[in-house]
Amino acid sequence: MKVLIYYFSGTGNTKMVLDRFVQHFTERGVQTVVKNIDDYYDSKNECNKKTESINNYENHIDSENEYINQTDNIDKYNKQIVDGDEIKKIDSGDEYNIQLENIDEYDKVGLFYPIHAFNAPANVLQFAKKLQKRKDKKPLFIVKTSGEPLALNNISSLKVKSILRKRGLILENEYHYCMPYNIIFRHTDNMAYKMWESAKSIIPYDCDEIIAGEKRKLKYIPCGRMLAWIFRIEHWAGRFNGKKYKVNENCIKCGMCVRNCPTHNITMENGNFKFGKNCLMCMRCSFNCPKNCIKIGLFENWKVNGRYSFTPNKNQVETHKNYCKRSYKKYFSKIENRLNSIDAKSNTQ
Ligand SMILES: Cc1cc2nc3c(=O)[nH]c(=O)nc-3n(C[C@H](O)[C@H](O)[C@H](O)COP(=O)(O)O)c2cc1C
Ligand code: SF4
Ligand code: SF4
Repeated sequence: MKVLIYYFSGTGNTKMVLDRFVQHFTERGVQTVVKNIDDYYDSKNECNKKTESINNYENHIDSENEYINQTDNIDKYNKQIVDGDEIKKIDSGDEYNIQLENIDEYDKVGLFYPIHAFNAPANVLQFAKKLQKRKDKKPLFIVKTSGEPLALNNISSLKVKSILRKRGLILENEYHYCMPYNIIFRHTDNMAYKMWESAKSIIPYDCDEIIAGEKRKLKYIPCGRMLAWIFRIEHWAGRFNGKKYKVNENCIKCGMCVRNCPTHNITMENGNFKFGKNCLMCMRCSFNCPKNCIKIGLFENWKVNGRYSFTPNKNQVETHKNYCKRSYKKYFSKIENRLNSIDAKSNTQ
């Protein structure tokens, strides 16, 4: 089996989940090609392919700082062009389409992204719209991460699902994993650890479902389409707020934020920073800044800085212990119950 995966990850959570999927697919003998949506971004044409080369998973190189997810990659990762796996820009009037010339070589297509305001991030929607329409049908699986497990998060795939359906990619499997917040507040290390351990334990079985062709869908709440449409105001608000970002005097001019921004929205000239109008509110710059010196406009009080250790820390005080308490409990026990029943089934065989 051959699988093609597109992903976007602002601050690394979705990338961690993706890595686990790829690890398991590989163990199962599934050939997996992974492409980073960052590499398709062109500031003039937004999500058009930046270069003609592809981002093959095996060629990933660790970025300069281990906690930055694989984003400093446009130059590094695009060096390799794999024969027959090239994507071309096709001129069709004013628009450019990304043509997946060899999509027929793949058995399934995957899309991974973090949930932003109960939606897919703006660049993921832009990217999906640029894929060429095709008549042949291909099975699609969607994998999402988000900070809380509210069922409202399920509606985040409605828009992207309908865009991709028109392009011949038909949703068959959908998965959602809780990963720690990169905005609003910092989860404790214990909670981050628990989230990651849960996701890690169930992902191999979710991979097996995809391989076996067993469908899995998430339930959407009533009026989900309309709610998702309303929440997409975040895409506009992100652009507006992004222009209000500021860098304070603690900056050491390491340039990491400039290099890693997925929309090339940050420029530094003579030591002065400029934030443009293409912010996705992905938090990559402020989350990873080693001096925590980027102010994120109107959302400064919601800023989370520094990667999670994903290891337990008993000394940490839980300050948000009642936040979505029932939803988290339900989420963790659902995974536990599923693992128990898989265990019980394998014991009786
Ligand atoms: C702008 C923005 C909006 C977010 N909206 C939601 C949301 O609606 N629901 C949720 O549970 N988490 C939300 N989150 C949290 C992220 O989805 C979560 O931390 C995710 O795992 C981040 O993945 P990444 O590290 O791959 O970017 C939001 C994060 C950002 C930056
Ligand atoms: S703002 Fe932070 S990441 Fe950007 S150059 Fe300054 S210290 Fe580096
Ligand atoms: S400016 Fe920061 S938050 Fe906005 S898109 Fe770039 S890295 Fe993401």
